[in-house]
Amino acid sequence: RSDPVTTMARKGDTIRSINVAVVGLSGVEKDKGHAGVGKSCFCNRFMRPHAEDYNVDHISVLSQTDFSGRVVNNDHFLYWGEIIKTSEEGVDYQFSLIEQTEFIDDASFQPFKGGQNGAVRQKMRRDETNFRRETHLGIEKEYEQKVLPDGKLNVDGFLCVFDVSVVPSRSIEKQVEFVSAILNNLIKTKKPIVYVTTKNDEANEGYVREAHKLIQRNEFKNSIPMVESSAHDNVNIDIGFMLLAQMIDKTKVRSKVLSYTEAALVR
Ligand code: GTP
Ligand code: MG
Repeated sequence: RSDPVTTMARKGDTIRSINVAVVGLSGVEKDKGHAGVGKSCFCNRFMRPHAEDYNVDHISVLSQTDFSGRVVNNDHFLYWGEIIKTSEEGVDYQFSLIEQTEFIDDASFQPFKGGQNGAVRQKMRRDETNFRRETHLGIEKEYEQKVLPDGKLNVDGFLCVFDVSVVPSRSIEKQVEFVSAILNNLIKTKKPIVYVTTKNDEANEGYVREAHKLIQRNEFKNSIPMVESSAHDNVNIDIGFMLLAQMIDKTKVRSKVLSYTEAALVR
């Protein structure tokens, strides 16, 4: 048992477990505009990278009745499950992924959209860094059900997304305001954060500038790296997660992040 060779082999086999939450502008249409910022598509692409497993339609809203009237707070999340990915340095990471969503009231309830989602909605505790399963929903049978392993999960790091495409009924000011508020709250947790711009395949130049300006603010620029992604085109998806894992792991070596244009070329 104390044989160093065995120990080394064991060490090489170790899989690091990382719990990640994807956050960003969410809510009802009045908050997020005609479409969401791309959190579900981003999670979908990471969890199920094969083209045929990529869906554009994701459930985005919940009925209050899902929770039998037990409204503890207004925050919810989707649990996407676990996946193992290997870094360039050969480190295996097991990611458990949560998408933070928002709770809506009955007045603005919209019917569920179709499409595989791979997620079961579950209630989240007020404390952003401590998620506990309080309700298990198995409403739509066609969805693969993912259950939080111990009924709870401590988030180790955050991916905060910013949509750089133009979405009707959503102003850029609104998103900047929302995302900077999220970031300000996240930095208080002292947990690593990676900032991910989404929908770069349909990027608006002005919005890209705003997205960059936001993360260049003094309070963010030295601690929060930026990744420019597109879930539709499968560009710069894994890198954000890997970088976050390395930050959580406090590794000396960090993966190099290519700009959207560079990454789209080498894809
Ligand atoms: P909510 O959960 O409702 O807050 O939305 P969300 O943030 O999960 O957004 P979702 O992933 O459901 O995507 C919303 C819309 O954006 C969908 O119509 C997607 O097709 C579109 N979208 C998502 N990712 C991309 C992308 O990489 N490129 C483009 N062009 N559109 C995208
Ligand atoms: Mg979503």
